[in-house]
Amino acid sequence: MIIASNFKTNYTREKTKSFVCAVQAAIQEMKSMQEVRIFVPATALDSFHEVASLHVGAQNFYPVDNGSFTGEIGFEQLEEFGITTVLIGHSERRHILGETQEFLARKYDFAQAKNVEIVYCVGEPKEIREKGIDAVMSYIWEQFDGIDISYSRLVVAYEPVWAIGTGLTASIGDIEEVLERLAEKLSAPLLYGGSVKVDNLESILHVKHCEGVLVGTASWNEEAFCKMIAVADAVKKG
Ligand code: 13P
Repeated sequence: MIIASNFKTNYTREKTKSFVCAVQAAIQEMKSMQEVRIFVPATALDSFHEVASLHVGAQNFYPVDNGSFTGEIGFEQLEEFGITTVLIGHSERRHILGETQEFLARKYDFAQAKNVEIVYCVGEPKEIREKGIDAVMSYIWEQFDGIDISYSRLVVAYEPVWAIGTGLTASIGDIEEVLERLAEKLSAPLLYGGSVKVDNLESILHVKHCEGVLVGTASWNEEAFCKMIAVADAVKKG
């Protein structure tokens, strides 16, 4: 399974380094079977010499190798650190930073051409959830406009906007229903994100099509994040 942490706008370079080293040591000690991802702030990108099952990834990039895009980071700057996994479509970039579906599709095409793993995030806001599952699914499918779902290195994270950073987790039934519908059309691994914690992780990982989680707040504590990796190791999916 994929156990991923999204640091968002947290942690310095120094703290990131000690976090990655601690997680790495824990993975080795546990002989963990999980694929671990840590999406760090751009200022903390580095060559971490990770173990094979742990990859440090980028939360964002501008879809160019280099150029004149003041304040942005191109792929050349990611490649310097051997970055092989990126987040695209996170709700904070869609709704707070104003990235449109057309722009996200451009980022996606660019990352796909670079053959990196793409953790592509989708999810509905509260007002859509209140209209029921059909409205939720048509909202989510629109978030796949321009996205090549046959890409072999695609991972899809279902993150309902109303569950992100709010302490409100989607019910197991809601997660199951959305992942089931996504799995009808997608062959990519499916993750859930939105107020995942050590306490609710096990039941989420037991959801039929769930192949991992993308965690914000609760993962920023390295002990808790390592515990999540251990919980995932203990889950046997039939
Ligand atoms: P929280 O775990 O804080 O709800 O954040 C989820 C998220 O946005 C992961 O990308």
